[in-house]
Amino acid sequence: MNAGQRIAGYSLLEKLGEGGFGEVWKAERTDAPGQFVAIKIATAPEGVAMLQEAWTLLGRVSHPNVLQAVSLDTASVPPYLVTEFIQGESLRTRLSRDRRIDPGAAVGLLDQVLAGLHAVHGSGDMHRDLKPENVLIREDGTVKLVDFGLGRAVQKPPGWIERSGSTDGPAVVGTYHYMSPEQTKGQPGDHRSDLYACGVILHEMLCGHAYPIKLPIDGVPARLSRVVEKAVSVRPRKRYPSTTAMASAMRDAMREAGASTSIESASSHRRGWPLRREVYLLMAALLVLGVAVWYVGYGPRRARQHAEATHHAWQELQTALQPGPGQAFHPPSALENLRLIDSEDVDQRLAELIQEWRWYYSHARDPGAENALQEKDRRLREKLNEKYGEYGLRF
Ligand SMILES: Nc1ncnc2c1ncn2[C@@H]1O[C@H](COP(=O)(O)OP(=O)(O)O)[C@@H](O)[C@H]1O
Ligand SMILES: [Mg+2]
Repeated sequence: MNAGQRIAGYSLLEKLGEGGFGEVWKAERTDAPGQFVAIKIATAPEGVAMLQEAWTLLGRVSHPNVLQAVSLDTASVPPYLVTEFIQGESLRTRLSRDRRIDPGAAVGLLDQVLAGLHAVHGSGDMHRDLKPENVLIREDGTVKLVDFGLGRAVQKPPGWIERSGSTDGPAVVGTYHYMSPEQTKGQPGDHRSDLYACGVILHEMLCGHAYPIKLPIDGVPARLSRVVEKAVSVRPRKRYPSTTAMASAMRDAMREAGASTSIESASSHRRGWPLRREVYLLMAALLVLGVAVWYVGYGPRRARQHAEATHHAWQELQTALQPGPGQAFHPPSALENLRLIDSEDVDQRLAELIQEWRWYYSHARDPGAENALQEKDRRLREKLNEKYGEYGLRF
């Protein structure tokens, strides 16, 4: 397709994007100059089913955060789908420019993504290919979800990697990172697969990269990091059950973060000492007593429990990474079965390593990454032996 070419009552202006099966163009109505649309044109036979799928799905949904479709013509050569044109930029462009987005703004954007998705899920559909490229931000800040149509029409095979730009350009491992573990296994997934992608997108907005997922994220309210953690759980049933559940968890996290700062500033503005001096002395004495009791009893016991939980988790991880005798080697399921490690109960670095191994097996199985992880495993073993050696534990 070329600029200037006519399609029905539109004239093509500029190419906005190009995928394996089609091209997306900004176009102008020939009978109404200054009125723009986006036209997705199928350039390969598979593209037609995708346009049809997108048209059907978009027809069922009418929501301010979901792209509005205008018309479909599958009989024309080439077939095309006309949609509203969004003047703005994609979340990908925004991330390439700003790298990180502050938590308040990131939550605001994802909130809109979830609102759009809510409408899609409500009509029994799912997006299946959510990623920053498919989240457009209009100039007034409104988010629009685009690029539906991967639905049931075209199932991407496991390990499918999207090519971006020209078809002979480098393969960009982009989609991979947002795809839920069940989708990478070639299963169709359900609405919770979209919520997984939302977790990865939130992570990327907050820390500047999609992969690897490292939690907690620096400079982000702890509770918001936990929202990411829950959303990207390997098992769908550990994720949020719905868009609304995830949205309200995000809002609670932000409210809590906001509340703690406002409580702080409120007390720092308080003048004078409102209670009698004896009361403060008593409180100080109780505090000292409490610390002493913790120190002799609870503290060491807690430290030992922590060491033991870490040791246990370490052994479970090693077993999960080993093939059993005569057993087929299925680390992903072994890792999934590994009891969820609460990062407060075990050594933080070990919890991170487990996350990374899980990530590796559900996503990027390249040998380079595996070697790096094995090296990390080895170094961590040394550190754990040093740190917990005093409890007689060997890692
Ligand atoms: N309605 C639209 N308005 C403006 N830009 C759009 C629109 N639809 C798509 N684009 C741009 O074109 C790119 C590719 O479109 P998309 O529908 O995602 O197709 P593809 O299957 O090629 O990924 C998007 O990332 C976005 O930048
Ligand atoms: Mg796209």
